[in-house]
Amino acid sequence: MTNLSDGSILDQVHEWSGELTATRFDVETGTHFIIRIDSTRRGPAAGGTRAAHYPSVLEAMADAADLASAMTLKMAISDLPMGGGKSVIALPRPRSELSPAQWTRILELHGDNIEKLRGSYWTGPDVNTNSADMDVIAQRTSHVFGRSPENGGAGSSAHNTALGVFTSIETTLAWQGRDLAGRTIVVQGLGAVGLDLAAMLFDAGATVIVCDRDQVRSAIAERLGYKVIRVEEALSTPCDVFAPCAMGGVIDRNVAASIPAGAIVGAANNPVTDEHAEAILMRRGIQYAPDFVANAGGALHLVGREVLGWSEGAVQQAVRGIGKTLTEVFELSASLDNAPPAAARQIARQRVESVPAPRRG
Ligand code: NAI
Ligand code: PHE
Repeated sequence: MTNLSDGSILDQVHEWSGELTATRFDVETGTHFIIRIDSTRRGPAAGGTRAAHYPSVLEAMADAADLASAMTLKMAISDLPMGGGKSVIALPRPRSELSPAQWTRILELHGDNIEKLRGSYWTGPDVNTNSADMDVIAQRTSHVFGRSPENGGAGSSAHNTALGVFTSIETTLAWQGRDLAGRTIVVQGLGAVGLDLAAMLFDAGATVIVCDRDQVRSAIAERLGYKVIRVEEALSTPCDVFAPCAMGGVIDRNVAASIPAGAIVGAANNPVTDEHAEAILMRRGIQYAPDFVANAGGALHLVGREVLGWSEGAVQQAVRGIGKTLTEVFELSASLDNAPPAAARQIARQRVESVPAPRRG
């Protein structure tokens, strides 16, 4: 992950190995727009638009870089013909405090920025953006995945992301010689993915423990029969599998050394902060399914439907195939005696490097 102790934005750009950093500040809305293209080796860069009120522009830039790099790995390990990129809209205040007119204006400006990149970057939904937002962006550029079905898009990717995480949990437990029924799973975050995942786990006979900082979502979960814990208890509740489905960066070295889980498998991008934390998990025998493998169901849904012309059935078959990919990653990790994310990065990077680098103009 990008080191934030590095001084300036320019230092950060110099140290990043990605292909392009595009930024724009709009005075009228007070918004910073950041698009980072990590790689176009395997095809146009793709990755969602994340909107948030960041503590600093430097942090927004770093988040975009780390998320863009993860998209390159996700596309390659999923064998999709795309590269990796991401955009971050660094809002002047939290999303909930913007008027509908301000939000629409911000999305339109973002669409204009994407259009200027002439198809080298394609966006889609991510944290705080949805299909309706993609419809607005699509009024300014055609390089958008995940518009609503009424407008010709593939709609929300959340269900197939949840299905991919569910498959990955089954696969991880099977790798450890265990079944899902009767296991205890902690799901952190009951958003579009987490709520769907919790339902699949519950139906499969698992004991489902959940938390969300949103009281309404927690109340829904309680009614559905899940055990609801406080947000602060998520990382200290004993479980067979911890499923991070809220934000990234939740497992640092200290958490890796203490979390009472048998495995970590979730939807959040970049949930583990660095390679030392990955190594600590491995030393403790906690099987970590790399995020960019386990959460690739959304990318398979969007690229499968909108680029490759797959039916919903074909998408679900590909999403189920995440289990096979994950087993290959675990096998390589075991043979190298290296953490699963390192093994997964090795497979993905080989695939990226097998494509000739684009000629410099
Ligand atoms: P979402 O925004 O619908 O849900 C996130 C949920 O997490 C919200 O309900 C929020 O209240 C909750 N939350 C935030 N901070 C929390 C905390 N500290 N503790 C507990 N709950 C907290 O997002 P969505 O679509 O469900 O995605 C979840 C994660 O999966 C995100 O990190 C996203 O980047 C990632 N992801 C999503 C994909 C998709 O297709 N939707 C695809 C790949 C990754
Ligand atoms: N933001 C989601 C992800 O991280 C879905 C997405 C995939 C959006 C590919 C755009 C392109 O996987």
